[in-house]
Amino acid sequence: MPTTTWNRHHVISLADFTTAEYNTVLQTAASFQEVLSRRTKKVPTLQGQVVANLFFEPSTRTRSSFELAAKRLSADTLNFAASTSSMTKGETILDTAKTYLAMGTDIMVIRHQEAGVPDAIAQEMDRLGVRVSILNAGDGQHEHPSQALLDLFTICTLFDRDHPNIETLAGKKIAIVGDILHSRVARSNIWSLVASGAQVHLAAPPTLLPKLFAEYMYSEKKDTLNGRLFLHWQLEPALQDADFVMTLRLQKERMTAHLLPSLREYHQLFGITRQKLQLCKPDVKVLHPGPVNRGVEISSDLMDDPEFSLIQSQVTSGVAVRMALLYLIGSGKT
Ligand code: CP
Repeated sequence: MPTTTWNRHHVISLADFTTAEYNTVLQTAASFQEVLSRRTKKVPTLQGQVVANLFFEPSTRTRSSFELAAKRLSADTLNFAASTSSMTKGETILDTAKTYLAMGTDIMVIRHQEAGVPDAIAQEMDRLGVRVSILNAGDGQHEHPSQALLDLFTICTLFDRDHPNIETLAGKKIAIVGDILHSRVARSNIWSLVASGAQVHLAAPPTLLPKLFAEYMYSEKKDTLNGRLFLHWQLEPALQDADFVMTLRLQKERMTAHLLPSLREYHQLFGITRQKLQLCKPDVKVLHPGPVNRGVEISSDLMDDPEFSLIQSQVTSGVAVRMALLYLIGSGKT
């Protein structure tokens, strides 16, 4: 493992991550990627610790890869789903978290449909003076830090597989396309990619990229984002000479109004296809956090084309990156 100091107790947001912290995650994940390439993929690092996955919203990738990551580190894992829990009998979220705390949980991985829930639980744990750590596995439209870190790792390891470094992205053009308004992934990606020195171009219809979004993002870190974050209501300026294109699913479950033309028209205007990629650099790569609606935000053939698509690599990277996060947070507890 890289020698490092890691002082972060919870991971809720990437808004205040430093370059050193990004590189620590990247380099630790690269070490675990090497472990995962061995015949025996398990290390005893978190033996005796308990990792609880508390998911109040559906998930395939995040939940399974956090579970696998914890098991590869030899931690004991607990899996919770709200629909089969005592919350159906009226137990509150905080009381649920305290129940898992009482069982000796060291790290809680939390997904919730409301922004701010992981942070509220972290604050309550801190108030109680207990050493349990909270990892945000996606909260409402707020953030999805582990997804953005695995996206960063997937891209940075293309430049240096063994020693990935965030600064290799300086000057690269990265387009984020689709339902920006509802995307916690996009918000976390913006923090990490802007921190890398990349030029980040957002493209979506005005209903999915309202001016309010710009005001929200720019109000938080105006000086940092100026000159690095660009907004477009057409696709073409974002794709022109792009090195990477990140596509996003239309999150219909979060849409409270009719915000879209037909899916067919949306695909024509903002769907990523082989033909539209001709605007980008010749070696452009395409990412998608999943789950994918084939033929809407990305054409089905492009999604499956290993020359362009990094979608499967993202899923693979997720295990190593989540091992890195659990290790960095958990190793201070033993
Ligand atoms: N990217 C992502 O969060 O996928 P899941 O909802 O399947 O976890």
